[in-house]
Amino acid sequence: MRYKSQSVAYWYFAIAMVLFGLQLVFGLLSAAKYLGPDPLLNILPFDVTKTIHTNLLIVWVLTGFMGATYWMVPDESRTELYSTKLAYIQLGLWTVMGVTAVIGYLFGYGTGNKLLEQPLPHKIVIVICMLIFLYNIGMTIKKSGRFTTTEGVLLLGLGSAAVLYLPALLHYENYVVSIYYRWWTIHLWVEGVWEMIQGGFLAYLLIRLSGADREVMEKWLYVIVGLVFIAGIIGTAHHYYWIGVPTYWLPIGGLFSALEPVALVGMAMYAYYAMRRSGLAHPNKLALHWTIGSALFTMFGAGLLGLAHTFPSVNKWTHGTLITAMHGHAAFYGAYVMIVLAMITYAMPSITRRENVDGTNLGYWAFWLQLAGMFGMTLSFGTAGIGQVYLERILGMGYLDTQLKIQVHFLMLVATGSLFALGVGMFIYDFFRFPPRLSVGDSEPLPITTTSAARPGL
Ligand code: HEM
Ligand code: HEM
Ligand SMILES: [Fe+2]
Repeated sequence: MRYKSQSVAYWYFAIAMVLFGLQLVFGLLSAAKYLGPDPLLNILPFDVTKTIHTNLLIVWVLTGFMGATYWMVPDESRTELYSTKLAYIQLGLWTVMGVTAVIGYLFGYGTGNKLLEQPLPHKIVIVICMLIFLYNIGMTIKKSGRFTTTEGVLLLGLGSAAVLYLPALLHYENYVVSIYYRWWTIHLWVEGVWEMIQGGFLAYLLIRLSGADREVMEKWLYVIVGLVFIAGIIGTAHHYYWIGVPTYWLPIGGLFSALEPVALVGMAMYAYYAMRRSGLAHPNKLALHWTIGSALFTMFGAGLLGLAHTFPSVNKWTHGTLITAMHGHAAFYGAYVMIVLAMITYAMPSITRRENVDGTNLGYWAFWLQLAGMFGMTLSFGTAGIGQVYLERILGMGYLDTQLKIQVHFLMLVATGSLFALGVGMFIYDFFRFPPRLSVGDSEPLPITTTSAARPGL
């Protein structure tokens, strides 16, 4: 840790870890309900556990993004944060918002708009937190006068994510209109501006971990971000096929969303080449695992499994089935969970009192168990989805009869989900078992940059 104020990141990461654990409890609960009968039906029905599961995901991943930004910006701009006090106020407000939203869902408060269920007062607090956050980061950069491209891409992503949340604050009477604008937030987040956030973190990590040339890395970052934008914006139309808007969206959606994986393949190649050039010189190999893992798993979960159902001729069968859940899990995990875990793993030897930089044994177990578990979960959802599409949509069997026939896949989901949860439990334990390091340089283990990454100008 080069700057004392970077230690605020620890508390963001700590909250993110707790909420991550809680998210999985509600994921496993949701999965178990598919096995029926459900003893909790009248207390915690499926719609409530699923809402809590997905909302906790969004809240903890955003908490991770904020913590990672508070870690990265002082490093890039070579200065202390503008205000640690503001960062703590923001974290307090944000956590209260997240926790009360979850309590509210338990009692049925929420808008019912998938992934954007937060009641209006919570949405307003989210906007206030984002404003405090962006102000703090903006002032930090202004104070230092040093603004890198990597930081620029990250900030463009974070700022646009805040702006794209605004349509979610409005209420629409007409259901078609409401669904139409819902995708301006959800799709343009995950397939647009959040990918910039991922790209910013990825470039930062690759420059630091591989010692790759900053100029080259940043040039490619522009290309990837450009590709994401062109395809991602118009690609929104892959959600417009069946919602009641004109049919010209069908070919437009199919064509442009099919181009989206190009950027994701580009990102994976970018990470791979950076790694090859470096000869794996950096001591923090575990962080490198998470970084390269994120780029590759995104290509699989978002690129390949997204493409698998993005054409209208396929999507007319698979829309809203477990095929969607298959893709949703793998894509979210690769792109946003893994990149946050990469940033935490990179920062861990500095912000905690852990002695070895390389990563602990437990840390490697956490990585491989999560990967195996998530791969198994993807297969479970995928096989359940294929069965569901065939029985329900092609043979015309009723929804519940179909669910009975595909129950075995949910046994697999619970088994592989438990493996995944074990990996997450290990990661969380590995994080909390070392106390935080709250000052700069007091017997920090090894330098956190490779020799080449420490070259002036990088
Ligand atoms: C990191 C990137 C991505 C993430 C995190 C992600 C995540 C998700 C999630 C959570 C959903 C369900 C949304 C809902 O129903 O509310 C979804 C739906 C969908 N995604 Fe992605 N996605 C990503 C990239 C892609 C890409 C690149 C493609 C196409 C090549 C794609 C194609 C689709 C399609 C077609 C649907 C609609 C499924 C349906 O009709 O039910 N996604 N995605
Ligand atoms: C123990 C691990 C987990 C289990 C057992 C689990 C299970 C589930 C279940 C049963 C659903 C409801 C699917 C449906 O609507 O029929 C769901 C939804 C969802 N989960 Fe998980 N989950 C787990 C971990 C995760 C993780 C780590 C992520 C993020 C990377 C995630 C992201 C999502 C998303 C985005 C949805 C909504 C998908 C959609 O509506 O299509 N889950 N999960
Ligand atoms: Fe999309």
